[in-house]
Amino acid sequence: MSIRTLDDLLAEGVSGRRVLVRADLNVPLDKQTGDITDDGRIRAVLPTLSALTGAGAKVVVCSHLGRPKGAPDPQFSLRPVAGRLGELLGARVHFATDTVGESARSTVDALADGEVALLENLRFNKGETSKDDTERGAFADELAAFGDAYVDDAFGAVHRKHASVHDVPARLPHVAGRLVLREVEVLSRLTGEPERPYVVVLGGSKVSDKLAVIEALLPSVDRLLIGGGMCFTFLKAQGHEVGSSLLEEEMVETCRSLLERSEGKIMLPVDVVAADAFAPDAAHDTVPADGIPSKRVGLDIGPETVAGFAAALKGARTIFWNGPMGVFEMPAFADGTRGIAETIAKSEAFTVVGGGDSAAAVRALGLDESSFGHISTGGGASLEYLEGKTLPGIAALEN
Ligand code: 3PG
Ligand code: MG
Repeated sequence: MSIRTLDDLLAEGVSGRRVLVRADLNVPLDKQTGDITDDGRIRAVLPTLSALTGAGAKVVVCSHLGRPKGAPDPQFSLRPVAGRLGELLGARVHFATDTVGESARSTVDALADGEVALLENLRFNKGETSKDDTERGAFADELAAFGDAYVDDAFGAVHRKHASVHDVPARLPHVAGRLVLREVEVLSRLTGEPERPYVVVLGGSKVSDKLAVIEALLPSVDRLLIGGGMCFTFLKAQGHEVGSSLLEEEMVETCRSLLERSEGKIMLPVDVVAADAFAPDAAHDTVPADGIPSKRVGLDIGPETVAGFAAALKGARTIFWNGPMGVFEMPAFADGTRGIAETIAKSEAFTVVGGGDSAAAVRALGLDESSFGHISTGGGASLEYLEGKTLPGIAALEN
């Protein structure tokens, strides 16, 4: 892999040069207040930004937030992120109220050496996510005009063929930032020859989102533990009734075939916490996984399952975990996710947590982040990396 790195760029000298940094500042916001509920992705990009400001660069940061539809939409403004980024950097972050318009031009022009600007949400512009090469290219031209060099530190977005990720690096000298480098180093340990036993824990709501990674991982893992909303489609495939739990009817056959081909590697819950309704205060109790009452909805894995999964994780040398085991945002249904997270945190294995939700769960449950080997900032990106797919953002850096 011939990727130039931030250190190569720093060695050339960046003092007085404008460096365009693609970051993934797509942080979760509170629906009511708009406050940032987890700033992990902002903190993850600080090493790259500080190295650049410390070396006297004029740093122009760009990112997406949420999924606006190619036009300005105030609920997806990056302005609160500029505030938080400034607090964490301990320096003012100049905020441009557009991405490539008048505000962006004057903000970038006014930057002094060592200062940071943040452009408004990339996805306020159609060109960013366009499938049309010309439209994307035209937007990439405008963005590239703000930099003398480009740094990709947006690991969470490297699986997107978007202008800021895929087309800008073709227009500027380009390097990988510290975060992208670290993520790729860690994940390549999982796709290479992981130390065995290698145990993967998958959760989250949909089998359809995880199908490709399950297929890719099955041959190389020793155990695959499945919880979260997607376990019910597997339980159904085993012939159990799942009440009103989350179910992807059209995936049942696929799950059946996966179970058949898995040589016993796949482990499913033996008990679940079933509730009267999808609500924080719903009446609930623990029932066997093959005895979910018809009107009940499974919202977490049960204690026997946590114990069984913990036993399967014991002695593992490599662990990858993606996706919560239950609706951890509701305290009544957080025990499964907490139990698995605590088990992984205590393990002596090389442990990797992938995905926005599981990373947020680790922090929301108050676990010590440093007790994990690596917490990835990429959800889809880390899964696609493990699937062995070519990631447009990484490929663009290799050229
Ligand atoms: C993410 O949150 O997974 C990344 O920021 C990418 O966002 P996207 O899925 O909207 O492209
Ligand atoms: Mg996503």
